[in-house]
Amino acid sequence: MKRVAILISGGGSNMVTLVESMVGDHAARPCLVLANSESAGGLAKAAALGVPTAAVDHRPFKGDREAFQAELQAVLEAHQPDIICLAGFMRVLTASFIEQWDGRMLNIHPSLLPKYKGLHTHARALEAGDTEAGCTVHEVTAKLDDGPVLGQARVPVLTGDTADTLAARVLEQEHALYPAVLKRFASGDKALLEI
Ligand code: GAR
Repeated sequence: MKRVAILISGGGSNMVTLVESMVGDHAARPCLVLANSESAGGLAKAAALGVPTAAVDHRPFKGDREAFQAELQAVLEAHQPDIICLAGFMRVLTASFIEQWDGRMLNIHPSLLPKYKGLHTHARALEAGDTEAGCTVHEVTAKLDDGPVLGQARVPVLTGDTADTLAARVLEQEHALYPAVLKRFASGDKALLEI
């Protein structure tokens, strides 16, 4: 059985769908939910699902990313994950950390990459007049929101959409896409999934 650590910063709705998916014939099980703040709402949800939790607060490190990442790494190593899933983890990770998990770390991003790397993806899609939006699961490499795409899901942009209504429509698809990609990835399948 593969062991999966999930990194979060906020409410953790993607984390919940990932945890709930790892049952039955799934090749992986959750081993840790790790947040960069004790106040991340997802920590209580993970605990309620019976998953070990931990928090490494980035703030005391005052911008020293390497020191923050060394602490993240220590906590992760203690739980021996085979796969790391970033699920709304809102800290930028540097190459030194990412290299330690090369080929074993996934991220979900709320846009159809390579469009709209970084923040405010939905507002940018609306501003550009896009007629469709969506989300992407990709392998994490040293470049932000880059790396081989493993899956994408698309939604229409509707008349009258705001960033919030579009985000909600995309999030629904995130909850379908990420578990589906993780299930395939955990069993060694890296072929592109489009839903
Ligand atoms: C999700 O929409 C995820 O795609 C996004 O944050 C949200 C987290 O929601 N991630 C990023 O923007 C990464 N740059 P959740 O905590 O409810 O899963």
